[in-house]
Amino acid sequence: MGQGAVSQRYRVVVAGMGKRGMHHATAFAASPRFDLVGISSRDQKRLDAAAAKFSDVKRSTDARKLAEEVKPDVFCFCTPPTVRLPFIEAGIASGAKLIAFEKPVATTSAEGLAVKHALDKSGVKAVVSHQHRYGEHYQKVKEIVASGAIGKVHTVYGTATGWAAHMLSHLVDYTSWFNDYEPAEWVMGQAAGRGKLTDVHASPDYVAGVVHFRNGVRGIYDCGAGAPDVPEVPYWWRKCRIGAVGTDGYAEVHTGSGWRAVTRRGVESGPGGMDYDHDMAPYIQEMADWLDEDGKPHPLRFARAYQGFEIVSGFYQSAIDGGQIALPLTSAMDELEGLRGKLPARPVLMTLAESAKEYKE
Ligand SMILES: NC(=O)c1ccc[n+]([C@@H]2O[C@H](COP(=O)([O-])OP(=O)(O)OC[C@H]3O[C@@H](n4cnc5c(N)ncnc54)[C@H](O)[C@@H]3O)[C@@H](O)[C@H]2O)c1
Repeated sequence: MGQGAVSQRYRVVVAGMGKRGMHHATAFAASPRFDLVGISSRDQKRLDAAAAKFSDVKRSTDARKLAEEVKPDVFCFCTPPTVRLPFIEAGIASGAKLIAFEKPVATTSAEGLAVKHALDKSGVKAVVSHQHRYGEHYQKVKEIVASGAIGKVHTVYGTATGWAAHMLSHLVDYTSWFNDYEPAEWVMGQAAGRGKLTDVHASPDYVAGVVHFRNGVRGIYDCGAGAPDVPEVPYWWRKCRIGAVGTDGYAEVHTGSGWRAVTRRGVESGPGGMDYDHDMAPYIQEMADWLDEDGKPHPLRFARAYQGFEIVSGFYQSAIDGGQIALPLTSAMDELEGLRGKLPARPVLMTLAESAKEYKE
């Protein structure tokens, strides 16, 4: 956009009026760069309740029809992990310039690859919501790592007590960011616990894996029932430790409570806590920046999320078939089906007693 030009406002439809749909709709409605023009939910009651919170929005229980009628600049959908490709197709069919959707990219590499093909073919921009990175503690750790204060990075790592369909793509995305989104060349993973394979957020109860990134950096991930405690964080869902180790020190985020680093300067720490209200505004602003200028791609663009998605799919394929899995993936499959056929029926072993409220089978 030229200097002094009046900023264009972009029209948005949001589909799925659950927790994240409301976060997105609220943030778009509050932004000076967007007009929330339509909302959709399958559930009429939920739709009416949501519509009462916004002025001048069209509403429909049929997201595709609504988008085709309203022709938004941005089509955003916040549906459960199993609902992806039809909404990508609806966004493309509506003529939207950007599709914003929720993590994970998909639950199987078969669907993820179909999403990628559809987006690549259409040329429509897309972003995936790994928005925790806007938290001050995430920003601080990235700044320390990028400044060279921990020396040359050789390892990145992420742990979370919540299970993979909720948490693993977050761990992989933020650690990939610390490693400047270097592509992975191979991964190897293992999985345990069948309980969450039937959850709406379907995945094994526990996944652990290693990643070899092209620049030699090693990624280590530990997600779900067997992951270590993060005693710094009281809230179970935010017990995540995400960091980087270099030749001169380390720096890490604790999702629920601040950051810590040991650098050449000594031991440092500071505040921060994952906060949806805080993180949504910059996430959405950077969508406007990308729509304004092709040369300002969104930091959470689909291509990056897809790299992380391949890592997670590779862990599952390794747990199913054994051995290392080369990336990028050359074959797509239904990993959940494969894991259902492969994982032993033994109950998962839990690190934390309080995890028993989640991992029951
Ligand atoms: N980025 C984050 O920090 C974060 C946090 C929580 C959840 N999420 C992700 O957001 C997504 C949505 O999660 P949520 O917590 O908002 O869920 P939710 O259950 O609160 O809402 C889901 C919405 O999708 C609708 N829906 C369900 N099935 C549908 C279908 N077949 N077709 C159309 N609509 C359908 C539901 O009616 C509901 O409105 C998930 O992928 C989840 O992993 C991301």
